[in-house]
Amino acid sequence: MTTRSCLSIILAAGEGTRMKSALPKVLHPIAGLPMVAHVARAAAAAGGGDIAVVVGRGAETVEAAVRPFAAKAESFVQAERLGTGHAVLAARDAIARGYDDLLVVFADTPLVAPASLIAAREKLADGAAVVVIGFRTPNPTGYGRLIEKGGELTAIREERDCSAEEKKIDFCNGGLMAVDGKIALELLDAVGNANAKGEYYLTDIVEIARAKGRKVVATEVPFEQVLGINNRVELAEAEAIWQKHKRREMMLAGVSMIQPETVVFAYDTVIGQDTVLEPGVFFAPGVTIAANARIRAYSHLEGATVGPNAEVGPFARLRPGAELSEKSKVGNFCEVKKAKVGAGAKVNHLSYIGDAVIGAKANIGAGTITCNYDGFNKFITEIGAGAFIGSNSALVAPIRIGDGAYVASGSVLTESVPDDALAFGRARQKTLPERGRQLRERLASAAKK
Ligand code: UD1
Ligand code: CA
Repeated sequence: MTTRSCLSIILAAGEGTRMKSALPKVLHPIAGLPMVAHVARAAAAAGGGDIAVVVGRGAETVEAAVRPFAAKAESFVQAERLGTGHAVLAARDAIARGYDDLLVVFADTPLVAPASLIAAREKLADGAAVVVIGFRTPNPTGYGRLIEKGGELTAIREERDCSAEEKKIDFCNGGLMAVDGKIALELLDAVGNANAKGEYYLTDIVEIARAKGRKVVATEVPFEQVLGINNRVELAEAEAIWQKHKRREMMLAGVSMIQPETVVFAYDTVIGQDTVLEPGVFFAPGVTIAANARIRAYSHLEGATVGPNAEVGPFARLRPGAELSEKSKVGNFCEVKKAKVGAGAKVNHLSYIGDAVIGAKANIGAGTITCNYDGFNKFITEIGAGAFIGSNSALVAPIRIGDGAYVASGSVLTESVPDDALAFGRARQKTLPERGRQLRERLASAAKK
């Protein structure tokens, strides 16, 4: 890639009233990541990792959402919303540092691909002063139209300022732009507000640059990439598009899905080759699955690591800090949180394993519960390699069950068990011969009276 320096300006000052939300619009997530962070990530991947976010409200939260993807992110407040041209100028101090390239992106246009931003920057490197990211649509109503002549862009006309003839143009402004950083302030300062809406339109820099004898061009991207989100219906549409792309990318990389349209990924899900995902699997952020694993139907995973050849589900829940080693199994109706499950260990049915370390090849019987919480503090349960925990046992932490130890079913254990010991944590069974029949007869004769 180019060695040219680049500042990305993310416009995020919109009110977002149509979201009907207490949360600022740009913090609504797609694939578990706020929209504005998707945009920051794409900009950073296109070499624009110096990021200026222009915000109206929620400056700190918006900046914090962007920071993981751009260490140098800074925010600027646009107090009055006077148009996209005015918004970009809120970041004047950043622009004035003198970058080669400026990328102007919108926080509510989260699906833009790094490749499209790189293509726009390449056109700047080739000498254009402004590069406009456009798209074609059979239904251009509402969008600014791109007016071209001889391969160059001559103007962008907002819908309400278009003539009847111009309204027929199907090449539209996606809103995003790349601008020559060396003259950006000069162009932006020349923008006025003499238009139907009385706003400072960023799009006016097209004609301003041309008047200065500079070249302006458009670059075309698929409509999806410039889909703007204004309400929750569009948010769900963007999510669907994102998921569709992700599934395709995963399958092409060697992950099998029996019913792909039912699997939901997070922005950072990592899955190894030959892993199979059954229907209805949901990935919240922070999940890494190795090769050859199988995630059975209707499992929910978050912040978890699953080793090679491991099996999860059906109906399993892996919560943050679950670490399943190779060939381990966590079966139906089990919840695992902040716990290591050793190689080849099995937690097959109806268990809660939290704050625990389970050794290799241990067998955790159905219904085993680690009692990790006393209402105030959390405690650790350790289960040794090859240990056998009988069904329906409650292990009251802190506790250690030794390697090779054997715990009787239905035990409630409050003390540690040494290696290879057998522990009964329940009352001994009492069986009284004939007393069952006698009891039934007594009850029956009482009922006759
Ligand atoms: C803009 C384009 C239009 C294009 C469309 C694509 C302009 C003048 N128009 O119109 O040509 O077809 O996008 O979706 O650029 N914002 C601020 N502060 C402001 C104004 C806007 O931060 O004062 C932000 C908004 O939050 C949003 C972005 O800039 O993220 C675009 O603004 P919006 O009002 O949605 O522009 P459109 O009218 O859609
Ligand atoms: Ca818009």
